[in-house]
Amino acid sequence: MSTKTDQKRFILPCFFFILFLCVLASINEVRLDSLLKFGQCVSNFSSQSDQYSTSENSINLAANSSDSSSDEDIRILIGIPTLADQYQRRHFLRLIYGTQSPVGAKIDVKFVFCNLTKEDQKVLVALEIMRYNDIIILNCKENMNKGKTLTMFSSLPEIFNDTNEQYPPYHYVMKGDDDTYLRLNSLVESLKPLPREDLYYGYVIPCRSMDPFKHYMSGMGYLVSWDIVEWIRESDIPRKEFEGPEDKVFGDWMRNGRRGKNRYNAKWSMYNYPEPPTTCTHELWPDTIAVHLLKNQEKWIRTLTYFNVTANLKPSKMYHIP
Ligand SMILES: *[C@@H]1O[C@H](CO)[C@@H](O)[C@H](O)[C@H]1NC(C)=O
Ligand SMILES: *[C@@H]1O[C@H](CO)[C@@H](O)[C@H](O)[C@H]1NC(C)=O
Ligand SMILES: *[C@@H]1O[C@H](CO)[C@@H](O)[C@H](O)[C@H]1NC(C)=O
Ligand SMILES: *[C@@H]1O[C@H](CO)[C@@H](O)[C@H](O)[C@H]1NC(C)=O
Ligand SMILES: *[C@@H]1O[C@H](CO)[C@@H](O)[C@H](O)[C@H]1NC(C)=O
Repeated sequence: MSTKTDQKRFILPCFFFILFLCVLASINEVRLDSLLKFGQCVSNFSSQSDQYSTSENSINLAANSSDSSSDEDIRILIGIPTLADQYQRRHFLRLIYGTQSPVGAKIDVKFVFCNLTKEDQKVLVALEIMRYNDIIILNCKENMNKGKTLTMFSSLPEIFNDTNEQYPPYHYVMKGDDDTYLRLNSLVESLKPLPREDLYYGYVIPCRSMDPFKHYMSGMGYLVSWDIVEWIRESDIPRKEFEGPEDKVFGDWMRNGRRGKNRYNAKWSMYNYPEPPTTCTHELWPDTIAVHLLKNQEKWIRTLTYFNVTANLKPSKMYHIP
């Protein structure tokens, strides 16, 4: 019939193909950049499609897709303290977190360490950053219980102080651990009903206690709201006491500074791996946010198997996994 219908038939698949390319492209970008890029893609397309005067649809789509993935999402930064030389561990944790896609949240996992000390690190770590952009190098000398946590939290407001981005850059910051398995969807679900201010969240120590005010949240992974991060940067209280077990010291800051009026004890959704059993352990069970003390490969494998992490692997002619 007329060439007009043909044109329409041609335009519609083109539009979806371009959209698909845009989505693909944005997935590979840093999350922050991806929205911008997606918006650009769509606007690039709609300026093209304006020529054909049928851009209503694309504008609608664009409006919806940017709404759904920006304003309401919970933004969480998970900082995992590690050492520059722990290349294998970072590789493994990237697999663990890169294969989870939490709904209703934007979660950035970053590896945190102090100043580089060796020549080869300058190349290897730089390559990692070029590929993954998930590393924060603090201005400090490597240490575990001599203020690295303080340096991390108090550096974040400046690192993420981009006036062109949303404020706060993250609603919550979690200090993670490289032997903790976090299930991001469960974490997000548990955070949804909670306040976004003055929140101190985790697995309360001592292990037998269920009272989030006694005494502090375990280093397996504790989370605070962004206002507390800014308070740590500005207050004298953390600077007066930062030596000692970092999780306990953090709890002291909260108590002495009267912070964390909102507290949430995620026990027994967070727990230590069942073997060897102690008062801090729990059996693996479905209602899990975090499993801690995954000190060897066997424990990781058992945990990942229990949670069916690889069950949805797509069939393909390229491989066969029994
Ligand atoms: C969109 O177009 C602008 C200008 O034409 C260009 O700079 C930009 O890279 C394009 N964006 C994408 C994602 O193609
Ligand atoms: C966009 O969202 C509105 C309201 O949420 C909905 O009514 C509309 O159908 C959506 N449009 C598209 C193209 O998904
Ligand atoms: C860390 O490195 C920076 C830049 O190279 C340097 O200015 C700073 O003094 C170093 N800090 C420590 C604690 O060594
Ligand atoms: C953030 O940037 C603004 C403007 O550039 C500056 O005034 C402010 O001091 C910065 N804050 C931090 C914590 O670096
Ligand atoms: C894992 O999959 C099995 C079999 O489908 C199911 O019975 C089990 O409940 C799943 N486990 C979890 C933690 O979802």
